[in-house]
Amino acid sequence: MTATTSNPNSRAALPDYAPVPPSAQGPALNEVRGGGGGDLPRIAVILGSTRPGRLGEHVAFWVMDQARHRTDAEFELVDLVDYPLPHLDEPLPPNMGAYQNAHTQEWAAVIGRFDGFVFVTPEYNHSISGVLKNAIDYVYAEWNNKAMGVVSYGAAGGARAAEHLRLIAGELQMADVRTNVALSLFTDFRDFSELAPAAYQTQALETMLGQVIAWSQALAPLRQVTQAA
Ligand SMILES: Cc1cc2nc3c(=O)[nH]c(=O)nc-3n(C[C@H](O)[C@H](O)[C@H](O)COP(=O)(O)O)c2cc1C
Repeated sequence: MTATTSNPNSRAALPDYAPVPPSAQGPALNEVRGGGGGDLPRIAVILGSTRPGRLGEHVAFWVMDQARHRTDAEFELVDLVDYPLPHLDEPLPPNMGAYQNAHTQEWAAVIGRFDGFVFVTPEYNHSISGVLKNAIDYVYAEWNNKAMGVVSYGAAGGARAAEHLRLIAGELQMADVRTNVALSLFTDFRDFSELAPAAYQTQALETMLGQVIAWSQALAPLRQVTQAA
């Protein structure tokens, strides 16, 4: 599936902002590789809002910018704007693993490539965004036995969305790590628009990334058993 560069919500069409600008010499923001090489865990940072003017892009860029300093994993940005899935239209439940639509098979291939996930989610009506829930619901086995962490944002740090997401993760046989980065619209953004996270949030993100990486590695034997079955 290709990036929808003609989509008005796409990154290319957005104003030129980046709260923590990537280094001009650094790797592309959507693919930050750890420096260790070899079989490093592959972690997707899933950008879970697609609204025009979304704050989620600032947050996901901040996560990716922090991730670039790590040498113990490979990180890739998966922006749901680039995967415009319709409302779930598979005839069979995803846990049967009989995906019939091309868009589902492509999405399954994307998610299947990763060992762990960092979900960047807004809080909408005390839960995650609909577009993120839909994208999660589409597939099943591709999430199983993988680690996940949450970076949420909202008036109360998106905490209610984060807790909902952890419940969803349990049903998908994902291991949710303890640390949740919860960005407050009041104190971690200037004028509710420019991301300016408190120092402890950066520390929390570092801790959470470490936990996701560690658990992604620890669960690898389970994933091998599942693949062999
Ligand atoms: C449909 C909708 C529902 C929202 N509900 C909540 C909410 O329950 N709690 C909250 O803290 N913020 C809520 N907000 C505010 C969002 O957290 C805020 O607008 C945030 O910027 C949304 O993320 P986004 O800009 O990446 O889409 C809501 C926003 C929208 C659009």
